[in-house]
Amino acid sequence: MINSVIWTRLLVLSTLVLAALSLPTVLKTEETKKNEQNDFNPELDDFVPADRYLTHDEMITWLQSIARRHPKIAKTFSIGKSEQGRELLVLELSHSIERGERDLLMPMVKLVGNIHGNEVVGRQLLLRTISHLIQKDNVDPRVTRLLNTTDIFFLPSMNPDGFVKAREGDCWSGGPEGGRLNANNIDLNRDFPDQFKPEDKLLRSQNELLQSRASETQAVMKWILDNPFVLSASLHGGAVVASYPYDGSGTSQQQGFYSAAPDDKVFRKLSQDYADRHPLMKRSDTCGVGFKDGITNGAYWYDLKGGMQDFNYVHSNAFEVTLELSCCKYAPAADLPAEWEYNRKPLLNYIASSHRGVRGLVVDKTTKRPIRSAYVHVFGIDKNITTTEKGEYWRLLTPGRYIIQSFAEGFVPSSSRNIEITDIYTEQLNFELEPTVHQKTITRLICD
Ligand SMILES: *[C@@H]1O[C@H](CO)[C@@H](O)[C@H](O)[C@H]1NC(C)=O
Ligand SMILES: *[C@@H]1O[C@H](CO)[C@@H](O)[C@H](O)[C@H]1NC(C)=O
Ligand SMILES: [Zn+2]
Repeated sequence: MINSVIWTRLLVLSTLVLAALSLPTVLKTEETKKNEQNDFNPELDDFVPADRYLTHDEMITWLQSIARRHPKIAKTFSIGKSEQGRELLVLELSHSIERGERDLLMPMVKLVGNIHGNEVVGRQLLLRTISHLIQKDNVDPRVTRLLNTTDIFFLPSMNPDGFVKAREGDCWSGGPEGGRLNANNIDLNRDFPDQFKPEDKLLRSQNELLQSRASETQAVMKWILDNPFVLSASLHGGAVVASYPYDGSGTSQQQGFYSAAPDDKVFRKLSQDYADRHPLMKRSDTCGVGFKDGITNGAYWYDLKGGMQDFNYVHSNAFEVTLELSCCKYAPAADLPAEWEYNRKPLLNYIASSHRGVRGLVVDKTTKRPIRSAYVHVFGIDKNITTTEKGEYWRLLTPGRYIIQSFAEGFVPSSSRNIEITDIYTEQLNFELEPTVHQKTITRLICD
């Protein structure tokens, strides 16, 4: 009894001491930060200013220099150039960079900002996320774990030509002068091939798909098609809501038609997880327009064709959600510190969602070699995930019981396997497929 009282007192005391000690330190750090923000040096600093936007050139310099200073976990590369020749620079973050290649079954996540050049909060937010993750690596165990188990790719600005035209404080401009579009006045989020456009339905090869699209669209399409991304987000502004596939529908209805993707449950969960953690998004009165629970089906909100998120889902394994982050598209810089606070947790949690569901390897039963382009089919969901060249697959799922099967050309389909997905850990389920040699032998015998 006495002991516990003493302990409690000690605890209270030490807490007070700690608080007293840490208070001036906190103030001092804030002060130093403020001073530093006035003379931010993109060549040398790991942080980005909390309350001002970076110019395009500053952003490129900063991304390259922070990657150079942290080569074990960060790397930059270009996926192409804008119409006016600006770099579409990606920064990759992962502990696997030091190990030379992505670990087997490590999920790839991408985050794309500023597809509309005047929607800029997401662009800044991605820069701060990069800065945060790099500075908290080996400091915050959750960050360390996230970087050690996930391969994260940031494209902070997909439309740098639009961005340089856009003006701070301009909340609404939709036209070419406002910076929404690219240099050729193309809306990049209407420029992707679309399953609901009759003329696009016939496109098969990568070349056919890419033909006569904006250079920014082509660069991102190739990036999507050439890499096994599992999860993706596209960051926008002008509303505060998480909007999920499909954006398009086969109807000509402009609003109010719920165009559900086969993975509607997964998309709703990903979106709700974001909105629930965002103090403004989850409210239904933000920006004066109500979204129940802060999420919406894209087409239900308004039908759009040629969007990036539908392209991801229809043409790759990547599940993408559109995150609308601010009522004002080019919000005043003074809003940025609060935007970071609203979005930090939801965004980090979103990245970690790439570990939901089930993953595994599909291999040849006889040789144990990986089978590429094998299918993984979940009963009741009409979207088959395909394997990578290493035989890997990732299947995002919400908690529940599922029946799952794998099949590949030249192999006997696997048996149906029961699996239970929980909220706690990722399941691993491997498949060994038997080649269909019997059939070939028989055919040959008959022919002979
Ligand atoms: C990071 O991942 C590697 C490879 O999976 C593992 O061996 C190592 O223990 C992990 N390190 C930490 C700090 O979790
Ligand atoms: C997925 O695979 C199943 C099982 O073979 C098949 O019936 C279905 O048509 C496939 N779905 C798609 C969208 O390709
Ligand atoms: Zn937008």
